[in-house]
Amino acid sequence: MTARAGKQHEAMRAHFRRAAQERGFTLDPAQEAPAERLGRLAEELAHPLWRLRRPPRHLYLWGPVGRGKSWLVDTFLDGLATPQKRRLHFHDFFRRLHEGVAQHTAAQHAGGPHTDGAAVDQAVDELLGDCRLLVFDEFHAHDAGDAMLVARLFRTLLDRRITLVTTSNYPPAGLMPDPLYHHLFEPTIWLIEERMDVLDVAGRTDFRRQPRPEHVDGFALGARLDAGEEAAAGLTPPRADEARPVATHHRELPARAVRDDLVWFGFAELCEGRTAVPDYLALAERFPTLVLDGVPPLAEASADARRRFANLVDVCCDRGVRLYLVGADPLAGLPADSTLMRDLDRTASRLALLRQPGREPQEQART
Ligand SMILES: Nc1ncnc2c1ncn2[C@@H]1O[C@H](COP(=O)(O)OP(=O)(O)O)[C@@H](O)[C@H]1O
Ligand SMILES: [Mg+2]
Repeated sequence: MTARAGKQHEAMRAHFRRAAQERGFTLDPAQEAPAERLGRLAEELAHPLWRLRRPPRHLYLWGPVGRGKSWLVDTFLDGLATPQKRRLHFHDFFRRLHEGVAQHTAAQHAGGPHTDGAAVDQAVDELLGDCRLLVFDEFHAHDAGDAMLVARLFRTLLDRRITLVTTSNYPPAGLMPDPLYHHLFEPTIWLIEERMDVLDVAGRTDFRRQPRPEHVDGFALGARLDAGEEAAAGLTPPRADEARPVATHHRELPARAVRDDLVWFGFAELCEGRTAVPDYLALAERFPTLVLDGVPPLAEASADARRRFANLVDVCCDRGVRLYLVGADPLAGLPADSTLMRDLDRTASRLALLRQPGREPQEQART
């Protein structure tokens, strides 16, 4: 980084400073090196590919939640002049990829021998078109079923003349933490370590947990309520005749109420049933508000329900869906040091954004 910064790099530096200033903060020391590296990438992307000796290297930013990774990549993307850029949430990309792969596999079956690899390639082509930069927020892999598709997808992406920038809560070696499946994913980890510049964004402060009275994002307008507090929070509890099925991703789920701007579910129906991220995305696309009642302490829920709940919170937070959780404190009774708590780290940080009307005076007294 001793070389003199070019024009685009300088412009990106100024852009980062201005964007932080507008939100009333300065870059954390742990954000500075990644911001510089993104500035260098901006410089490279300003040149046509044929002018570069090789396509710009891929970046992998990782660190604990709330350290400002997403802010860095979003601000970077926002400051880039090129229209050939895409930012996709990992879950969302994956859902679309699954759909695309299924379509192409079916088409290839009809017309001759089927090749999965070609279906993945085609689906990726369609999703990415002529893009030169792909930002993939919150990359992670937990599911054995996904492992193979993620592995193939990564190889496909890294082989293209597209620069991939990902954020993750995991260092590459920590991806696919389940010891049963970790070895399946190791070749992908090696590939990431070899082909991507890995940068950590691991400052000391979780900015999400800091009080931010003047900034309230959509998610923060939601709340966590004890049973019985719904009306006080401005929610009208569902009447029996409001119950109806809601169409989600290729299925219907039984909602307790469906109104213009709101959908109301029980935890059992949404998190204990066999639902998945595409269902939550479909709900998030249609409803600005989601109420989930009957929430148990997650320590008492099944492992699957915990994972579904964590994914639901991710989707709501990412899509700015106002989320009301009614019932117990989901995080109550979770042993602080357990792997269980570590897996729920991001969820905990996001739940801290929810208002807790009954508790506000106490919270304020503490800060
Ligand atoms: N240097 C900073 N100082 C204060 N707040 C910050 C800083 N960087 C980012 N933030 C804010 O902190 C919150 C969490 O940042 P985010 O990028 O979502 O974290 P991560 O993606 O690492 O989980 C966001 O509201 C973001 O705008
Ligand atoms: Mg993030």
